[in-house]
Amino acid sequence: MPTGTGYHDELGEFFAQNADTSPYNAYTDRPAMLALAGDVAGSDILDVGCGAGHYAAELLARGARVTGIDASATVLRHAHSRAAQAQLRLHDLEQPLDFAADASFDGIVCALVIHHLTNRRQLLAEMRRVLRPAGWLVISTTHPTADWRYFGGSYYDESWVDLPHGPGALHFQRATLETFLGELLDAGFILEKLVEPRPCLELREVNEDAYARLTERPSFLAARMRSRD
Ligand SMILES: C[S@@+](CC[C@H](N)C(=O)[O-])C[C@H]1O[C@@H](n2cnc3c(N)ncnc32)[C@H](O)[C@@H]1O
Repeated sequence: MPTGTGYHDELGEFFAQNADTSPYNAYTDRPAMLALAGDVAGSDILDVGCGAGHYAAELLARGARVTGIDASATVLRHAHSRAAQAQLRLHDLEQPLDFAADASFDGIVCALVIHHLTNRRQLLAEMRRVLRPAGWLVISTTHPTADWRYFGGSYYDESWVDLPHGPGALHFQRATLETFLGELLDAGFILEKLVEPRPCLELREVNEDAYARLTERPSFLAARMRSRD
């Protein structure tokens, strides 16, 4: 029986469809994160929490070799058809990346998953272990002010919350900017760039209201980090 924070069954099916055209995923998070990743041609990339393979497909199209991991068999089925050339595996990110050798990836993409995890420090240490010297990590998470606005209470409240999403809810832990960035720096990453992604212009053509809303209120934080020598 699937457990934990993976997007299983109906939630996974909903996410897989929704992420195709969602103003949040397709027009805000993905364009910003792919810009942070930059030129990936010829690189070995680990897609951590790869979901339905939207990132893997883009990275393959840009000439990367991609390994994608996720705890949900539901989303991995979608990833298989969207990104057939990626190496995909079922993996719980609360556990070490024991399938991967030290220094085996040039870069890591970790989009909208870190806030779902409890053992974040273990995962960050593991990501450093599997990165080659000076390897890069691009990582995104929910914007703390978006969570504060939605859930209320103290900005500094880092409790676990449930955000309704289609047929279910996304279970994640709120974190301040200080916590998000602090855990990355403590793990031995150096900050290269921090962005608060705005939607890309194409969204205005298809959904003017969402474009106006997401241009005014940040929904995500995204960072490019480099592994310290
Ligand atoms: C918001 S989705 C992001 C998917 C993909 N990175 C993207 O942006 O399209 C979060 C993903 O994290 C996965 N996930 C959540 N908890 C996990 C865990 N403990 N281990 C592995 N994957 C997990 C979910 O199954 C889901 O696919």
